[in-house]
Amino acid sequence: MQSSTPAPDTVVTSRLTGRRVTADHLDYMLEVDGDSRIARWLFGIQSPEQSRARLGRWIAMWQETGLGFWIFEDSDRRLVGHGGLFNSPRKAGEVEVGYVVKPAYWGRGLATEITLASLKIGFELLALQRIIGIAQSANAPSRRVMEKCGMLFEAEFASPDGRPGVRYAIAKTMWPR
Ligand SMILES: CC(C)(COP(=O)(O)OP(=O)(O)OC[C@H]1O[C@@H](n2cnc3c(N)ncnc32)[C@H](O)[C@@H]1OP(=O)(O)O)[C@@H](O)C(=O)NCCC(=O)NCCS
Repeated sequence: MQSSTPAPDTVVTSRLTGRRVTADHLDYMLEVDGDSRIARWLFGIQSPEQSRARLGRWIAMWQETGLGFWIFEDSDRRLVGHGGLFNSPRKAGEVEVGYVVKPAYWGRGLATEITLASLKIGFELLALQRIIGIAQSANAPSRRVMEKCGMLFEAEFASPDGRPGVRYAIAKTMWPR
């Protein structure tokens, strides 16, 4: 269930600062959406027009639901990835956590840090009762991130595009891990 409290505009973790996505993040969107190492696990390579439209939807989502993505920067102000909470388009009534880290920063625990920060806000600030995560079944690093965050495997399903997906979930009663 969605919370009536909006999520904060800024989230600070031990290594990163996340800021609510704005129109100023178009370059970041273009970079991430044009990177096949990322896009293969999401929606495929996006054209600049598609990225612009996606950024518009992300900004509108914050305004309409009080949930959305933060773009995270490191202590040198380099944008390293994004993550956050949103109403699941795949499972009505559920809030989903999502996360992406640029390949140059993989393997340093940053996605785990982003995901834990998102879960913390979801449970401790927004009083959500449950948060789910969705990945392609073959996306081992993403599944590992969810496991490291205390999320449990719940179900396997066929995505509309035919690729098998998995759903993980964590309940507030399991938080903090
Ligand atoms: C998934 C993703 C966010 C992980 O980012 P990251 O910052 O490297 O993640 P972390 O470092 O926090 O954790 C990654 C874990 O996956 C593990 N891993 C990496 N490659 C793996 C593989 N091929 N098989 C199994 N585990 C793997 C790492 O060893 C690490 O686990 P560990 O800490 O136990 O060693 C990043 O790869 C990404 O953005 N991928 C493309 C977009 C995407 O898939 N987003 C999620 C959509 S559901």
